[in-house]
Amino acid sequence: MPLAGPIGSLPLPSFLEKRLFSTTPPVRSLTINNINPHVKEAKYAVRGELAIKSEQYKAQIARGEGKDLPFDSVIAANIGNPQQLDQKPLTFFRQVTSLLENPALLECQDLLEQNAGYQSDVFERARRLLKDVKSVGAYSQSQGAPGIRQSVADFIERRDGYPADKELIYLCAGASAGVNSLMNVICASPNTGVLVPIPQYPLYTATLALLNAKVVPYYLDEGTAWGTDLGGMREALAKAKKEGIDVRAVVVINPGNPTGASLKAEDIRGVLEMAAEERLVVLADEVYQTNVFEGEFFSFKKGLRDLQKSEGNAGGKYDNVELASLHSISKGMVGECGHRGGYYEMVGFDPEVVAQIYKFVSIMLCPPVIGQALVDCMVAPPKTGEPSYPLYEKEYNHIFTSLRQRANALYTAFQKMEGVTCNSPAGSMYLFPSIHLPAKAIAKAKEEGRGADEYYCLRLLEATGICIVPGSGFGQREGTLHFRTTFLAPGTEWVGRITEFHQKFMEEFR
Ligand SMILES: Cc1ncc(COP(=O)(O)O)c(C=O)c1O
Repeated sequence: MPLAGPIGSLPLPSFLEKRLFSTTPPVRSLTINNINPHVKEAKYAVRGELAIKSEQYKAQIARGEGKDLPFDSVIAANIGNPQQLDQKPLTFFRQVTSLLENPALLECQDLLEQNAGYQSDVFERARRLLKDVKSVGAYSQSQGAPGIRQSVADFIERRDGYPADKELIYLCAGASAGVNSLMNVICASPNTGVLVPIPQYPLYTATLALLNAKVVPYYLDEGTAWGTDLGGMREALAKAKKEGIDVRAVVVINPGNPTGASLKAEDIRGVLEMAAEERLVVLADEVYQTNVFEGEFFSFKKGLRDLQKSEGNAGGKYDNVELASLHSISKGMVGECGHRGGYYEMVGFDPEVVAQIYKFVSIMLCPPVIGQALVDCMVAPPKTGEPSYPLYEKEYNHIFTSLRQRANALYTAFQKMEGVTCNSPAGSMYLFPSIHLPAKAIAKAKEEGRGADEYYCLRLLEATGICIVPGSGFGQREGTLHFRTTFLAPGTEWVGRITEFHQKFMEEFR
């Protein structure tokens, strides 16, 4: 007999029934009470209860059931998963990986060039990569294939105007794996603290919970388009130190998730200055570096090298700042998140610490090799004058422009919604509006044992099939309510569904 879901009356799939309503018999070794408590403690709302419910709706609709639902499609606006929505893979990237997966195709160059739109540079790239990795079915070096790391180093140098060392570049199975490795090495004891922006992408708080370390929150400033408040950051640090927390690192997400904000160069310098003075590792999550609609991306690596060259470094203040900056194939116009690829560059780390990071990543053997090859395509895409360039450029620009259009359509709709305020889309893939709900709605949510933002998002899902994430999943100032939505879903029809729902919701509780 299927159990009812945690919310509403939909039956749960059997694997979830077991997971959520465990009646583990005592004959088993593991019970919910004796497993690692830190796993239970970790929270990750982006794929939480609402996401599970939206998947159930989707399955119901796919089976031809759910005729009584008030919607006929589910929109997954809860997660930055570009290709699950409308975004098409970049042709060059997939042509290269197709040859890597099936090297026999290298013998059919003429056929593929004449009949399948492959260009000669696709073959050159595949041959170069195969020379580097031998086979994508083989383990690579633990830190990633050397030729691909060199491509990353060259990219960083072109981007920042400062050289990079491929030995200090580690490829990883998405930025998440990189954060996990770095945090594992940083978090020495339950008293280790890491400064984390609030609101934040919950990878950080969840990883710190898993490692039994302490989150030291610093609040971003909604009033200045979610700017980084350096004074607030220093206060948060001072408070944590006073409480005896051993604060070792500061996380900065730039451009921001969920906020979309881009850090100004002066704020980046401010964070680095604090890191130098307080001896903190800077973890710069730069996975959205190409999703920038306002201003220009400015990297932490460039900020640090500029400071090291400046007069302010007369006494060597910045020489030993430890910076790990992360990038990924998951976001931007690449959107290859299912392939799990990324990298981090470490600057200023003690070589003995790097050796331990190397050992840590070796335990996992190596990042996925196709993911590594896609990192190579991302950091060294076709260049002007190369045969694949015209199509690459067309596809890239189309994705960029349509993301911006969708972001603006959603932003315009939010501006018209009662009680909703939203900063204009500046970067990343999200909008994070603040919502002011009627007192009756807040009371109703309380009655149901839910936060008001969670209740709102649940009602939106039930009424429209659109899945978004309550602000509480990212952290928000006490007394404020938000939600995060991606702007990846195609079309504008779904935006209309949100505005219509919102109006009815406000009327219901007025
Ligand atoms: C800020 C941020 N960092 C890291 C990640 C994880 O990226 P990856 O797929 O490379 O692990 C995400 C994913 O949404 C993100 O938003």
